Amino acid sequence: MKILEQLFALLGDGRFHSGERLSQQLDVSRSSVWNGIEKLKAMGLEIYAVKGQGYKLAEPVEPLNKEHILQAITPEAKLHLPHLDVHWSLDSTNQYLMELAKYGAESGHACLAEIQTAGRGRRGRTWISPFGGNVYLSQMWRFQAGPAQLGGLSLATAVAVARALRKTGVQGFALKWPNDIVAGGKKLAGILLEIAGEAAGPATVVCGIGINVLLKAESARDIDQPWTDLYHLIGAVPPRNRLVGVLLSELINMYTEFKANGLQPFLAEWQQLDAFYGKPVELSTHENVIRGIARGVDPQGALKMEVGGTLRAFHSGEISLRPA
Ligand code: BTN
Repeated sequence: MKILEQLFALLGDGRFHSGERLSQQLDVSRSSVWNGIEKLKAMGLEIYAVKGQGYKLAEPVEPLNKEHILQAITPEAKLHLPHLDVHWSLDSTNQYLMELAKYGAESGHACLAEIQTAGRGRRGRTWISPFGGNVYLSQMWRFQAGPAQLGGLSLATAVAVARALRKTGVQGFALKWPNDIVAGGKKLAGILLEIAGEAAGPATVVCGIGINVLLKAESARDIDQPWTDLYHLIGAVPPRNRLVGVLLSELINMYTEFKANGLQPFLAEWQQLDAFYGKPVELSTHENVIRGIARGVDPQGALKMEVGGTLRAFHSGEISLRPA
């Protein structure tokens, strides 16, 4: 492990650590410790330095730890998790798995990173992925079916994320079609599915999930939409390794169920969490903006909208709430 990773692992408990003790534990000089602390601060981590006491994280953040994550995964789900790679930094966890998939990686291979240098969002956006406690998780799945049959998968994935959040004590969030997780109208988590394959199958899907856990305003200044994080929603930073373990268990359950029964088992739950049902919305497509009333989703996961008295279904586009 490199010095920054070791320092972060030691500071993760949120207690004071003296510079002297840290230098002994890491077997490096005091100035190397100081340099490491400055680098972590420059990466966005808030660290207090108090004379006579040492260094302390402003908010305790659990560093990602593979063993602790595995402990939080159900034995059933573990059967479908051939590999879990925990990285310090990746360009994009989705990109990493898309590459591995080309070289024959097994279905279920998952990976995480503490920081992404080129995180990807939906519709060609960047997913701002600073260091300091968020979740950047991807998992790769292989399907016999072709991409066309996987239309509802992104909605089912949102239900899996919602289940995991609820199981870790998070409430007060809703879903925005097709798969955004929002709280108070602000983005809390996003899902990006990248699909490769022939029309008739098989298909490879990389499912990427980004959850804002602790996002500093400074690191988030380039985010081009209203955002929030779990810290603001529940007033604390949840134990990340448990959150990720529960999330992987829910994802694996969902993918197994989806392979057998498609979107149907998830539809009612998605509709219960629908942030926009019955509300006036605008749907921006590549060509135009369509205004109407949101009426839930159809069995394929398309957005149903009442437009000028007619019920229409939309398979893609970006939805926003229109001021009444
Ligand atoms: C969105 O725009 O709402 C989707 C965001 C998805 C972000 C996650 S973070 C982990 C994975 N790796 C990426 O590069 N993107 C996804």
